[in-house]
Amino acid sequence: MTRIAFLGVGHLAEAMIEGFLRDRQELPHLALSPRGHGPKLAKRHGLELAERNDALVSGSDIVFLATRPGDAIAAISNLPWRPEHILVSACAGVPLAQLERAAAPARVMRIMPLTAASLGASPTTAFPSFPEVHPLLARLGPVIALENEAQFETATVSAAIYGWVQSLIGLGRDWSVAHGMSPEAARQLAATTFVAAGRMIAERPEPVETLIANLATPGGITERGLAVLSEHSVQEGWTAACDAVLAKLMDGSAGRCP
Ligand SMILES: NC(=O)c1ccc[n+]([C@@H]2O[C@H](COP(=O)([O-])OP(=O)(O)OC[C@H]3O[C@@H](n4cnc5c(N)ncnc54)[C@H](OP(=O)(O)O)[C@@H]3O)[C@@H](O)[C@H]2O)c1
Repeated sequence: MTRIAFLGVGHLAEAMIEGFLRDRQELPHLALSPRGHGPKLAKRHGLELAERNDALVSGSDIVFLATRPGDAIAAISNLPWRPEHILVSACAGVPLAQLERAAAPARVMRIMPLTAASLGASPTTAFPSFPEVHPLLARLGPVIALENEAQFETATVSAAIYGWVQSLIGLGRDWSVAHGMSPEAARQLAATTFVAAGRMIAERPEPVETLIANLATPGGITERGLAVLSEHSVQEGWTAACDAVLAKLMDGSAGRCP
């Protein structure tokens, strides 16, 4: 049985562990590092809690790294890595070369899951892609394998967009409540409208532009709203926000700041 370890057990690791535990059939052995949410989750789910990180690493095959980015290299340095180990880093902005140096001779891959892993609904980007890890990530949602690290950094902007979309959903809920809807109905409507929009584009074969054109009929409500958003430069603002996040990932400052 594959032995999986989590080094750094905070918000993201908790979501991933909950995702793994949704189906306990053929579940690999899971062990957790001792800090953060580790003791609480080990007790709640009956998982192994390591006393120290060196014991955690020596007793495992695949190690998920989910410390804050600025703690990542210190956390994996001077541990008993073997060539058979796979280190899977979820730490935003921490480059492969630094991880490989600190965890030599282990093989290293980078992933970027979302907290929707807890629901089995996280699109998880990966580079490079190791076949041993793919089935594990697939338990958390669709896996998107990328071809190089530059593509991976671009794709990591989506992890920030995930939060912006939740913020937009909150805005939509607040607007609907201010205009008379009940908070629960407004929350469900705002959230499931985003889910519906995403599913149409993810699951239908038509080009995105065709799907939008089908909605934005001349003189209709979608067209009117898109025009107002354009007057407020919302599309430019969105692109500028994506550019700013990518720049932060590329200049290394995402790795220094949590
Ligand atoms: N949160 C998300 O939605 C999300 C999504 C995608 C990727 N990520 C990435 O996931 C990583 C973790 O984010 P997070 O939000 O889960 O952070 P978090 O809640 O702060 O969790 C990080 C955990 O790592 C622990 N830790 C630090 N150094 C350690 C060490 N040497 N040994 C054992 N444990 C150690 C911390 O313990 P202490 O509290 O004791 O310091 C803390 O419990 C980040 O690198 C982030 O870029 C996060």
